[in-house]
Amino acid sequence: MLMVVAGVALAPAVSAQDHLDTSRLEKKVAQKLKAVRTDPKARQAAIRKGREAALFCAHCHGRDGNSTKPEIPRLAGQNADYLVDQIQRFASGKRQDYIMTSLAGTLSDDDKIALAVYYASETPRRVAADPASENTLARGREKYLTVCMPCHGPHGKGNKGYARIAGQHERYIIHTLTNFHNGTGGRTSEQMSAVARTLSDDDITDLAAYVHNLE
Ligand code: HEC
Ligand code: HEC
Repeated sequence: MLMVVAGVALAPAVSAQDHLDTSRLEKKVAQKLKAVRTDPKARQAAIRKGREAALFCAHCHGRDGNSTKPEIPRLAGQNADYLVDQIQRFASGKRQDYIMTSLAGTLSDDDKIALAVYYASETPRRVAADPASENTLARGREKYLTVCMPCHGPHGKGNKGYARIAGQHERYIIHTLTNFHNGTGGRTSEQMSAVARTLSDDDITDLAAYVHNLE
C-alpha cells in the first residue's frame, strides 16, 4: 500500500497500473529501495550519492542521464525498480554488454539503489525529435495502443519493472526490439520476446518513431 502511495506521489501520470506489482527485484533489495524512496531524508542522501557516482556514467549516458548518443539509452526519469533490476542483470551476466557488464560488477546494492533513485529523479529533457511522417506515426500509435500499452502504459512511462520507453532514442529502440525479436543481443525477457516475435521490420520502425516522439 505504501508503495502505491509513493508511486503516485512520484509519478502522478501513471495511475491505472499502480496496483500491479511489476517489480522483479528480490524481496530484500525491493524493500531497501522502497525504504529509500519513501523516506525523504534517505531519498535526498541517495540522490546526492547517486549524482556523484553518475559523473563517470555521464561520459556515455549524458549529464542528468539525458544521453544524446542514439545508441546509448536515456536514463533520466526511468523507473527506479527497472534501473536496479537492469544493473543487477548486467552484474550477474543475465544481460550482457561489453562495458556495462564489467562496470555493474563493481557496484554494491547501495550504489545501484543510489544511482537508480538519482536517475529516476532527473527530468527527461526533450531531444530534438527525429522526423517521422504522419503515416509512420499513425501506424506506430495504432500498434502501440493495441500491443504495448498494457505493460508500458498509455504514455510510455511504464511501471516499476516495465521500462519507461517514452522519448527513448529511436535507434536504441530499433536495436532492442530487433534483438528481442531474433533472440540475440545478450538480453532475454520472455515477455518482450513473445511480443517482439509478432512484429515485422516495418512494425518495429513505426513503433520506434512513435515511442521516441512520446513525451
Ligand atoms: C562507455 C559507455 C558507458 C558508460 C561509461 C556507462 N554506460 Fe550504461 N550503457 C551503455 C550502453 C552502450 C548501454 C546499452 C547496452 C545494450 O544495448 O544493451 C548501457 C545501458 C545501461 C543501462 C540499461 C538501460 C536500459 O534502458 O535498459 C543502465 C541502467 C546503465 N547503462 C547504467 C549505467 C550506469 C549506472 C553507469 C555508471 C556507473 C553507466 N551505465 C556507464 C554504455 C555506458
Ligand atoms: C507483457 C508486458 C509487455 C508488453 C506487452 C510489452 N513490453 Fe516492452 N518490456 C516489458 C518488460 C518486462 C521489459 C524489460 C525487459 C528486460 O528485463 O530486459 C520491457 C522492455 C522494453 C524495452 C527496452 C527498454 C530499455 O530501456 O531497454 C523496449 C524498447 C520495449 N519494451 C518496447 C515495447 C514495445 C514497443 C512493445 C509493444 C510492441 C512492448 N514493449 C510490449 C514488458 C512488456
